[in-house]
Amino acid sequence: MGVSKKQVRVGMIGYKFMGKAHSHAYRDLPFFFDTDVVPVQQALAGRDREGVEQAATQWGWASTETDWRRLLEREDIDLIDIVTPNHLHAEMAIAAAEAGKHVICEKPLAMSVDEARRMVEAVQKAGTVHMLCHNYRFAPAVQFAKKLIEEGRLGRIYHIRGQYLQDWIMDPQFPLVWRLRKEVTGSGALGDVGAHILDLARFLVGEFQEVSGMMETFIRERPLGEMSGGLNARAEAGNRGEVDVDDAAVFMARFENGALGVFEATRFAGGNRNGNRFEINGEKGSIRWDLENMNNLEVYLEEDEPGLQGFRTINCTEEHHPYGAAYWPSGHIIGYEHTFINLFSELMKGIADGSSPAPNFEDGLRNQLVLAAVEKSSRSGQWIKVSDLNPVTRR
Ligand SMILES: NC(=O)c1ccc[n+]([C@@H]2O[C@H](COP(=O)([O-])OP(=O)(O)OC[C@H]3O[C@@H](n4cnc5c(N)ncnc54)[C@H](O)[C@@H]3O)[C@@H](O)[C@H]2O)c1
Repeated sequence: MGVSKKQVRVGMIGYKFMGKAHSHAYRDLPFFFDTDVVPVQQALAGRDREGVEQAATQWGWASTETDWRRLLEREDIDLIDIVTPNHLHAEMAIAAAEAGKHVICEKPLAMSVDEARRMVEAVQKAGTVHMLCHNYRFAPAVQFAKKLIEEGRLGRIYHIRGQYLQDWIMDPQFPLVWRLRKEVTGSGALGDVGAHILDLARFLVGEFQEVSGMMETFIRERPLGEMSGGLNARAEAGNRGEVDVDDAAVFMARFENGALGVFEATRFAGGNRNGNRFEINGEKGSIRWDLENMNNLEVYLEEDEPGLQGFRTINCTEEHHPYGAAYWPSGHIIGYEHTFINLFSELMKGIADGSSPAPNFEDGLRNQLVLAAVEKSSRSGQWIKVSDLNPVTRR
């Protein structure tokens, strides 16, 4: 790392699953990317002193706090990174902006459209840099898909089929962790994994116009318990509680550009550990991507010679592919953690030039509007126009 580079001193709140992913990305970023500003892991905040100190030591944080608000008072912190459950995002991000800090927040941005709107207002008023951690946009194959679409190689887009399929809560004895409690998470599979496929759809196809959705909770009561890191959990003996969020959400959508979308977000797709996939069909070609095979993009082009037409598999690790030059020689693949490193490289560029790279809080608000429209449609059985839920466009 160049010692003369401007440093962005990070204060991160939370230190489990995403805490580990973000800590690793800060450490590796200056190793792979030559950005003008570099992150410094200044302080890690958590409620439990022993836990936060252990994580700070293992992951390379210089200091710790047991009250996240202390990070906002510290003058040696420039960027607040929020990796806590969803019900804390708004309070923490708004307070960080009011303290004049840049903010990066995990997805989904908020619990509701109203919270998301207040978060956008806070960062706009503060004039600080903001970003939302939809890391899958930053897989090289997804960035390459975006490039192909922007170059017009697929022509007019007709369809997107997006799926985020997991199976980690199928066991009825899996406990009622925060991700299954509405007051902490907002919604279930929809906001947790559905938010990611919505972000990919907005990134690759465009803005949603209207949606029609269904949501279902298959297991309505579970033992109480807590997340213990990653997607693992510990059950408490005895007590049980009600699941008040969706286990699965499916929805159809019409986009402003006339494309049609079909989406599925579920934690009940047995055998699918983390199946985040899409297929996009346009007038001149199609593309397919699957996170579990994340370096590859399947591409079909109508212009190919008859007889040779079909999906080809492009391993997006060449130096001409997005982020390819930062890593290894062609075919020497990268992984899940690199999506975060790539995203943080954009955040560092944003902080260097005072801009908020997409996806930022404004993207988070647009995403939240679609999530809210799917929920409303699921309750009413009606198609819902996304703009009807936006307090600004409704007038
Ligand atoms: N980008 C992605 O792909 C991705 C993946 C997983 C989770 N997430 C998001 O990241 C966020 C965190 O999820 P996770 O899986 O890391 O959760 P987790 O349960 O593994 O970790 C949450 C952390 O927040 C801390 N915390 C909870 N309440 C707190 C409080 N009041 N003050 C300070 N710290 C507190 C916990 O102690 C823990 O360290 C969520 O918003 C989730 O939706 C994003």
